[in-house]
This record gives sequence, structure tokens and C-alpha cells, in this order.
Amino acid sequence: MKEYHFDNIDSTQNYAKDLCFKPEKDFFVFADIQSSGRGRSGRIWESPIGGLWFSFDMDIPRSNDLFTMTIGIAVREVLKEIYKEELQLKWPNDILLNRKKVAGIICERVQDRIIVGIGVNTNIKSINNSTADTFFNVTGITVDNYSVMKDIIERCKKTIKLTKDEIVEIFRSNMAYKGEECYISVLKENAKIIDISCDGNLIVEINNKIKEVAFGEINLCI
Ligand code: BTN
Repeated sequence: MKEYHFDNIDSTQNYAKDLCFKPEKDFFVFADIQSSGRGRSGRIWESPIGGLWFSFDMDIPRSNDLFTMTIGIAVREVLKEIYKEELQLKWPNDILLNRKKVAGIICERVQDRIIVGIGVNTNIKSINNSTADTFFNVTGITVDNYSVMKDIIERCKKTIKLTKDEIVEIFRSNMAYKGEECYISVLKENAKIIDISCDGNLIVEINNKIKEVAFGEINLCI
């Protein structure tokens, strides 16, 4: 894979998207600092020095339509092996440590590619966000960001070969907030998290009725 490194960039995701239009394929872009890191749903992604911020391209999978969940599973596995901590998946693909977000994933389709952007709060001392935390803060462990990135990319390429049933099964057994009341963005109301369906949709209960949610975010009620 061709690699692009920046000490400081607006967003590796933006740079990777531009590369796709060139058109280039089989690359990864990483940066020490992002000045305008982007999260899902238009959120800002704080990207200070010490964290792992990267984007890479993948083929659009033919059969696996749970792509973003698949990437979440790969990221969780690699980080669990490194830090030996219990990590949970918050639907659709956030990684939580002690119920706080430590890694986020964005997947965007550009031309005939998918650009996967991953942010991991690895070696950051502290973060200015009450719903997030950093691996260093919790474990005291400092990692080599470059090798963690390479491991994650390799694992994504393997995980993408899993079947839909396997993805759903792995996700289910590591899913955060099961049985808890959460705010469901797309429904604009609170609901109890029940499970995910065999299609990866979120299953929730509101006023004794079961609903399925195909996209959006969930947040713990405060
Ligand atoms: C989210 O949880 O909302 C997704 C966060 C994705 C952040 C990563 S950091 C590397 C890449 N560049 C960006 O601007 N965003 C992604």
C-alpha cells in the first residue's frame, strides 16, 4: 500500500477522498495532528498529538452489507489484544472502554471505493470530553501508533471476509448498553436497547413496542 504521512493536516479523511478522485487506490493516510478532524453526523473529531488518526481505501464488498460494523469488530479486536482491556461496541461502530468512547470510525463511499477513517485515542494524556477517554489515561500504556495502524488495516481486510451471521454474532456478544435506556437520534426519543437484528439493525423498545433502527446514533440518557 502507498503511504502518506503528515505532521499536521486538516483531515486524513479529506485527503484520502481527494486521492480517490485522482484516481488512486490501495493507500493509507495518517497524521500526527488533524486540525479539522471529522466525525460522523458532522461532528468535530478532536485530534491532538499522541492519538492515531488515519484513513485508507477498501474495495466495496459484494456480499457484506454490514461493512461499518465489520470495521468496528476489527478495530476492537486489535485494541483488545494490545491493551488486554474489555472493550465494547456501541452500535453502529464506536469502541468503548469503561463506557467511554476511545475510538471512532467513519466510512464514506467515494467513486468505486470506500474510505475508512479511524481515530483512536491511544497515547493522549487526557481529553476534554466527558463521554470520551484515552487508552493511555486508563492503562498507562504507550503504543507505537504506526504498528497499531498497520495491524488494524490488516485485520479489517480479514474481518471483511466474515459472513453476515458471523458479524452479527460477534457484534451481539460485545454490544454496549443492552437493556439500558438510551437516546436514539433518528427516533428523537429515548428507548431501551434490546439487541441487533440479523441485518445489523438496532432493535429497541419504546412503550412496550419493538422498533428497528437502520441508521443513526445512540447515546446514554443523562
Ligand atoms: C466518529 O466516531 O464520529 C468517527 C470518527 C472518525 C475520526 C477519524 S480520525 C481519522 C479520520 N480523519 C477524520 O477527519 N476523521 C477520521
